[in-house]
Parts: sequence; structure tokens; C-alpha cells
Amino acid sequence: MNLVITGGSVMTPDGPEPADIAVAGGRIAAVAPPGALPPADAGAEVCDASGLWLLPGAVDAHTHFGMPLKGGIRSLGWRKSSEAALLGGTTTVIDFANPDRGESLTAAVDRWKTAATGRCLCDYALHCTVSEAVPDRLTEIPALVAAGIPTFKGFLAYKGRLMLTPDEMRALMHAVRQASGMLLVHAEDGEMNAQAEQVLVNTGRTTANWHPAAHPPESEVSAVKRTLELARETRCPVTIVHMSLAESLAALREARTAATAAVYGEVCLHHLAADDSLYRMDQDRALAAVCSPPLRGTADTAALLAGLIAGDLDWLATDHCEFPLELKRTAAHGGFTKVPNGCGGVGERLTLLHDLAVASGAMTPWRWQETCCQKPAEIMGLTGRKGRLQPGYDADIVGFDPRREFRWRPLGASDGDGNLYRGRRVRGQVVRVWKGGRTAVADGRVVTGEPGSFLPRRLDGK
Ligand code: URP
Ligand code: ZN
Ligand code: ZN
Repeated sequence: MNLVITGGSVMTPDGPEPADIAVAGGRIAAVAPPGALPPADAGAEVCDASGLWLLPGAVDAHTHFGMPLKGGIRSLGWRKSSEAALLGGTTTVIDFANPDRGESLTAAVDRWKTAATGRCLCDYALHCTVSEAVPDRLTEIPALVAAGIPTFKGFLAYKGRLMLTPDEMRALMHAVRQASGMLLVHAEDGEMNAQAEQVLVNTGRTTANWHPAAHPPESEVSAVKRTLELARETRCPVTIVHMSLAESLAALREARTAATAAVYGEVCLHHLAADDSLYRMDQDRALAAVCSPPLRGTADTAALLAGLIAGDLDWLATDHCEFPLELKRTAAHGGFTKVPNGCGGVGERLTLLHDLAVASGAMTPWRWQETCCQKPAEIMGLTGRKGRLQPGYDADIVGFDPRREFRWRPLGASDGDGNLYRGRRVRGQVVRVWKGGRTAVADGRVVTGEPGSFLPRRLDGK
């Protein structure tokens, strides 16, 4: 035993329960009622977590750290993004490797691993995007599943870039199912979006305020329904990522009653904690909110939060893809269609969901832990290592003070101007993070430079 954390409370379905945690060799050795652990080894570090809730290191199943786009543009990189993640209590991320046209899936995965190695301070796993559903790519899928990358992403959006036709999506689902993988789908209809965008461009409506008009709700709802039909037909396990509408959620609920394979729904922080009023504010606020699907109205944010509380949505992710506001401002000279899509959130997720739902009593602390830690870990194939405070699991532990109130300051090295949440009064704060049993965050600062590891995953739970 080389670390003992005393005085804190762990989450249970009945509420927070006082418990002490012992750590040995980077793993959790025991979780016991206060005072019930065997005496600590001489030289073991003893940390007093009095007043803190102790959670498993949070798992963000949807990030884009250092994502390269055309023209040398890149989202905030692995080091800075992972620092923000740690500061916010997220110790594991699952990022997306995106192959270029003509590039093999394996080559893209290798490129992503090279970019993350030595830079990412969280442990990380990868999904792989498939934007060319051609035999050469589809035949690579079983080898990737065997190499610990069992989840793939297909887009019905982004015409001319990443979009697959329904037939291509069907072929991809068949291939993923045969390899015992899971498909993650970006469900917006790329044709509908392209048409809406063309009308806006033709009529000179090109400022960022118009971005959501190029992503009409019908586009998402129709793509969600199509995805669910294809999943049913192919019996491929599917997650619909970044669901943003009450109507999408209703379609998911309905499909579940008839589903022959697993269908999961993901919601991302900005679709719960921010809304489309940002597009009606100044250009900077509108630019910061350029992401796809766009931010929606408050009836949708409320329905999604209720869906997450009820368990109709399975986990909360962030789609963290942060671009400095200055970069978005420059790109906006060519109109909103040229602005890189994405917002941050990896550092905010635990605290903001606590503030939005737990502090008000609408969500139990247990469900909060499930949606941010346990469910994404288990559904995404990290059972046994991540997402629970149990013997044998990695000693990734978050000390959270539910009583602190403060004004949100963007975390880590992000430029802050583009942060959707800055200045907001929030309840609850991450005060300490251990990763692999070592302190990673203390006093609001990252105190580790130790890189994280690549995590191979298996969906069969073994
Ligand atoms: O706006 C977004 N979501 N950017 C990241 C790429 C994606 O579609 O997930
Ligand atoms: Zn997407
Ligand atoms: Zn994404």
C-alpha cells in the first residue's frame, strides 16, 4: 500500500458514503468504511480528503485533441487539452483518429498515437473515423478491433468531406458488426445542411449568427431516424453521438423498444449547458458557439438533461474540439462556412453537470458519477480498469468539493475568450486528482508531467 486517502465519501446508489481508499502499485487495493483499512505501510502517503466526494477519474468518450484540419488549422493540442481535462477531473479520453482521403485506417491510428505519445497527460484510447466505405478500408476493421480500437465513426453530415451515403453507411455497419465492433454516428443529413448553407450563402447571410440555420433540426432528426433504421436492419451496435434535440431523443426511445442490437445515445456538455441564444449575441459569442450539431433552444437542453437523468441518454461527453477564438475570427472573414467547427468542454464537464443537475437535486450524485465515469468506461470497453472505485481498477481518483462556489475560469492553457462558460457562477469544484495513485492536480494546478498511456479496449468486457 503506498497511498491511503481518508475522510472522503464515495458515491453509492443511496448517496455519498464515508470511505477510505488504499492504493498499491497504481491500482485501488481496497475501499473500506472509515478506519477499517489495515494499517498503512511505513512510508505510505496519507491524504486527508475530509469533506470531499471521491469519484473515479472521469472518462470523456468523445474528444478531438490536436485535430488537424485543412490549411494547417488544428484544434488545441494534446498537452494543453489534457491539462484542462485533468484539472476538471477527467483522467481518460477517447479521441478520434481521422484518416485523410486515401489513407489507411491503420496509418491514421498510428499518426494519432504518435501525436498523443508523450504529450497526452490523460490515459487515452482511440475511435477511428471511416469516411471512405470502400473494400480496402472495411477489410481493415477486424485488425483494428483486435488491436483495441473496436469503435468507428461514420458521418451522415459534412457533404464532400466525411459524409457517407446511406448505402455506404449500411456497408460500414455490416463490416463493424461482423468484426464485433460498434459504430458511432454523426447524425445530421449532409445534403439538407448543404442546401440550407447554399441558400444562406446566396443571400449574403454569412456571419456566424447564421451557422445554426445551416443545420436545421429536421436534418438531425431525419439522420437520427435513418441511423436507427440502418442499425435495426444490420443489427450493428450503434451510438448516436452528440444528440442535440428532444425529437432525436424521442426517436431513440422509440427505436429502443424495437431494437435488435444495442443503440446508445450520447449527449455533449455544450448541448446541455449552453443554448442558441449565443448566436444572437455579439459575433465573438456566436463564433465561439460554431459547432455541429449547433447549440439548440432551451426546450431541447431541458429535454436532454431530463433524458440523461432518466437514463435514456447513456453518458455525457464533450466533443472537446477547441479552437482559439482568434483563429475562428480570422476564418470568419470567409463567412461562417469557413469557421472550424467545435468548442471546448473537457475541463468543465464534471463541475458543470454537478452545477446544472446535482446541486439542484435533480440528479443523484450516483447518476452523475455513472454518466461521467462508469457508463462511458463500461460501454466503451474499459471495464476492469476505468470508471469505478473498486479493487483492481486504476487508481484514478477525483476529490470533489460539492460545497464550493466560484466563478468559472477557463482551465489550462486555453485562450479563454472562446470559452462558452467563462464567468458563470458554478457550484462544486475539483480540488485534487490522483492518476495511477499519484497526485496529478493539487491546488488548482497540474503537478504531473507524466504522460498517459494508450488504452486498448474490448467491447466484450474481457
Ligand atoms: O463541431 C464539432 N462537433 N466538431 C468536431 C467534429 C465532430 O463532428 O464531432
Ligand atoms: Zn460529429
Ligand atoms: Zn466529435
